[in-house]
Amino acid sequence: MKLAIGNDHVAVQMKNEIMEYVRNKGIEIINVGTDSEERFNYPVSGYRVGKMVASGEVDGGILICGTGVGISLAANKVHGVRACVCSEPYSAKLSKQHNNSNIIAFGSRVIGIETAKMIVDEWLNAQYEGGRHQKRIDMIAEIEETQNLSDADNE
Ligand code: RB5
Repeated sequence: MKLAIGNDHVAVQMKNEIMEYVRNKGIEIINVGTDSEERFNYPVSGYRVGKMVASGEVDGGILICGTGVGISLAANKVHGVRACVCSEPYSAKLSKQHNNSNIIAFGSRVIGIETAKMIVDEWLNAQYEGGRHQKRIDMIAEIEETQNLSDADNE
């Protein structure tokens, strides 16, 4: 498995700790975020990781900014990205099982490093369940591709 990780200037330390944590599991992780605490606009990292995930260059991505919100919004603008911002492990696990999330995001100003590690663990260990969830993933993709939803009335 190969992952990409990105961050902005408020998440350098958490990014470094999460990279080490993931590498210690024997997982390759490519750092495309900033290593400086100089102001760094989060859409850059969101875009970089989003493109790597959507192209299949990596199997998934981790994004960290102050809240996880801005950086996940940016990544979600790349076609094929399903980036989910989570502040606890349950949502992280379900984001993979039900929503087939390919990027997990969280906030360095919101959660501590131990919660961040638990989120990463649950997300890495979970498997997409497919089945009834696939139709909904397809519906999300339809909105993305067509700006329309053919069964928008849920009939
Ligand atoms: C940076 O100040 C902050 O806005 C950013 O890290 C993030 O929280 C945005 O969503």
